[in-house]
Amino acid sequence: MRDCRWSSDMRLPKAGTVEIVPSVLAADFGRLAAEVAEVEAAGVRMIQFDIMDGHFVPNISFGPPVVAAMRPHSLLTFDVQLMISNPRQYLDAFVEAGADHITFHIETEDEPLELVEELHKAGVTAGVALNPETDVLRIVNVAPYCEMVLVMTVHPGFGGQEFIPEMAEKIRRVRDLVGPATRIQVDGGISVETAPIVVSCGADTLVAGSAIFSAKDRHAAIEDMREAIASAQSSWSVSV
Ligand code: DX5
Repeated sequence: MRDCRWSSDMRLPKAGTVEIVPSVLAADFGRLAAEVAEVEAAGVRMIQFDIMDGHFVPNISFGPPVVAAMRPHSLLTFDVQLMISNPRQYLDAFVEAGADHITFHIETEDEPLELVEELHKAGVTAGVALNPETDVLRIVNVAPYCEMVLVMTVHPGFGGQEFIPEMAEKIRRVRDLVGPATRIQVDGGISVETAPIVVSCGADTLVAGSAIFSAKDRHAAIEDMREAIASAQSSWSVSV
């Protein structure tokens, strides 16, 4: 089984940059293509699709048809987060729909290494997510084979929730576990206030829903988050 190795045909940006990733869950679904085009014009490189089944999480969002409908309208890296009880059953459908990266939840999978291998064989990058109550020890064996680890900073299911401060220490533990070559994504309550905190703990892929799509000027909202990170980083003397 191959470990986490970056190759030129991967559309997930290689580790080493800080990426702001709008989550379409907070966008106006009635004009989704225009919403995505607006953040794409603001220079983001990835967009996240939150897939919810009303079983693993207490909410239902959308499925492969929405991802497929968006694919012809955007060059962004499509990051698909599967908050569903049976991710293995839907992998092919999301790959065919145009996903570039797929993250499944460790709480939903007994054979995570097999699933990661299936994702790599399907030509997409693999991510494993863990809920706030799930210990880092649950991903020790699979994380080295993933291009990204997602640390949920809220209990999954809804946008607009408060960031859970205890997750800062968890991000540090995951960074210690995976080293510099793996991306660490955070999701939930990411804002101009919390973005510098998570980056200081080692996160480099920041999902933001309401902080971006609830803003009147999405471009400015993204710029404000970038500036908050940059000014914090300059105090640590690390480049954006
Ligand atoms: C929640 C989703 C998040 C959510 C983030 O389960 O996974 O992506 O959309 O929304 P905010 O940034 O508003 O917390």
